[in-house]
Amino acid sequence: MALYSEKVMDHFMHPRNVGIIENPDGVGEVGNAKCGDIMKIYLKIENETIVDVKFETFGCGSAIASSSMATEMIKGKSIHEAMDLTNKAVAEALDGLPAHKLHCSVLAEEAIKNALKDYYDRNGLPYDAKDFPDCEHCDHCQ
Ligand code: FES
Repeated sequence: MALYSEKVMDHFMHPRNVGIIENPDGVGEVGNAKCGDIMKIYLKIENETIVDVKFETFGCGSAIASSSMATEMIKGKSIHEAMDLTNKAVAEALDGLPAHKLHCSVLAEEAIKNALKDYYDRNGLPYDAKDFPDCEHCDHCQ
């Protein structure tokens, strides 16, 4: 069996939603200290709906495919639905990632959560800090 699914290869070769958004409503940037990869997500939000999302990822193919798929999964969704997006759902939507590459999908989940937190912060909206685990101190990527 091939190491990477056709979907992973498709999103890696033809990533969706690459780029930046001018005047975004939320920006999230996360990095993985071990592999050195960095992911940045830009959100445009209207009436609690993600009307546009773009990403820049400096990282491996799985990180690029995960960013591409994750942005597709939250575009047009409410901020609450986006909050519920898990790295597991991203990996499943890609028809799986090799075990040693699952952390790449974690980067996508965390970048989106970070961007949503930025949106909440900018607008002075209340939130539960527990919903936004501190990347530095979580063990997802270990
Ligand atoms: Fe670092 Fe994939 S190896 S995100």
